[in-house]
Amino acid sequence: MQALNRQASCMSGVAHEDATAIDNVNLYEKLGFDTFVKLSTNFYNEVYNDDQQWFRSIFANSTKDDAIQNQYEFFIQRMGGPPLYAHRKGSTALIARHGPYPITERAAARWLFHMKTALDKSPEIDLDSKTRMFNFFKHTAFFLVAGKELTNHHRLVGNYGVGGRHMGRA
Ligand code: HEM
Repeated sequence: MQALNRQASCMSGVAHEDATAIDNVNLYEKLGFDTFVKLSTNFYNEVYNDDQQWFRSIFANSTKDDAIQNQYEFFIQRMGGPPLYAHRKGSTALIARHGPYPITERAAARWLFHMKTALDKSPEIDLDSKTRMFNFFKHTAFFLVAGKELTNHHRLVGNYGVGGRHMGRA
């Protein structure tokens, strides 16, 4: 996990302490429930209207309403609010939950582009909170990219018997 965090910092340019600066202020108490619902609604409106079909299609198996709820419940829980996500769905396990999707650097950049637009459309979020949130998003997006690369690597190693116990038997 530490290695993934380091890789995420390297790829995103966000130091770990900046990514976790969301923990130094209770953003849920500061911004309130409705602000998070609005942010996720704005974000997924952008995603589901994306003129770049390759990105839009990543979300084709989810309804927009479900995706919005999943996201704002996670954000609220992670940013100082009640554990809504855990109560409804259990562990967040973000790398595993993104397992079915192509989480590439290009997808991370597009995700962040839409999140930047959603934040720009949220005048009720002050600049300091936006900076903290965006650093967290950026770091997490590349954490997921790094996690995907690691998972793919392990799959290859498993499939072709390179490394691990098989090396000793060859
Ligand atoms: C869910 C894609 C980054 C948090 C999803 C879903 C997709 C997706 C297709 C399924 C929609 C749903 O049914 O909820 C991506 C892509 C990303 C990305 C392409 C680019 C790197 C992020 C980041 C975060 C995040 C940076 C957190 C800061 C979540 C959460 C869910 C989710 C909490 C709900 C998971 C569930 O309950 O199954 N994502 N995501 N994602 N994503 Fe992402």
